[in-house]
Amino acid sequence: MTAPKNAGEDARNGFAIDVRQGLSRSPRSLPPRYFYDALGSLLFEAICRLPWYPITRAESGLLDRFAGEMVSRVRGLDRLVELGCGSGDKVARLAAALPARKRSYEVHLVDVSAQALELSESALARLPSVTAVSHCATYEAGLRAAMEPLGEAGARGATLVLFLGSNIGNFDPAGARRLLAEIRATLRPGDGLLLGADLVRAEADLRVAYDDPLGVTAAFNKNVLLRMNAELGADFRLDAWDHRAIWNAEASRVEMHLVSRTSQRVRVPAAEIEVNFAAGETIWTESSYKYTPESIAALGREAGLEREAQWLDREAHFAMTLFVAK
Ligand code: AVI
Repeated sequence: MTAPKNAGEDARNGFAIDVRQGLSRSPRSLPPRYFYDALGSLLFEAICRLPWYPITRAESGLLDRFAGEMVSRVRGLDRLVELGCGSGDKVARLAAALPARKRSYEVHLVDVSAQALELSESALARLPSVTAVSHCATYEAGLRAAMEPLGEAGARGATLVLFLGSNIGNFDPAGARRLLAEIRATLRPGDGLLLGADLVRAEADLRVAYDDPLGVTAAFNKNVLLRMNAELGADFRLDAWDHRAIWNAEASRVEMHLVSRTSQRVRVPAAEIEVNFAAGETIWTESSYKYTPESIAALGREAGLEREAQWLDREAHFAMTLFVAK
């Protein structure tokens, strides 16, 4: 597994810097990547099983029905690169749909979580025709590392980059365009990108998906407060915060916020800040952008990628789009 030196210390410093910046600006905000420590990742797994959160089931159903077609649409495919591999279940299902052959397929796993990489490696271990390579890195750094050792042009087959689970939804439109352009820049003609994205649907459905009656999403949201207490020495009182999810139709996104129940002062020693929150003041913790089948195709087009095929679940909750580089 490739990982930067002193990764733990760098991660803590990066967290402290982001908290200092995010809690000093107006409106106060935190990047959603800090949800995913060990507990946060388990809470996210639980969210994926909730009846009100259809993304995972819809995507899984599409993989059940179309994994073979998805991989066969990329001619000469011999490597998969998954950005944000989670449990590795999806990449394993696509890898299992690859035609049997003597030479092994390479599967590159990119994730900031070492635990996710381990889980994914074991999901792939049962596939004899796959060699897994893990990159403990951000999407951009991992993608570069995965694409580097490709050898001379023509010495290999095609690559399919996977960006699934609607992770694209957690990027703002400019960030999504930048990321797709970066992916595009690493692709050679004939390489593909398989993009999973959650679709716009009724407001009530979107709200309950992000504010579920069991309170799992609320716990997931508040976990970032727990993390700041545990890792940065902060003194957030978890019972002094509420979870809020709203649908912003104009921006086509669900927003998650933490709302201060009272006026309170919070210290975050490792970030060298003390913050006074007024009652009702919020910390914006996540945006989850929702697309239409056409707006996904347009997003790809702006990055120089043409839609090759698109699969929607029966309820039109979710789309998987295959782009191929020309
Ligand atoms: C990971 N990501 C696509 C999820 C989403 O739906 O935006 C994270 C999440 N936040 C609340 N529930 C799930």
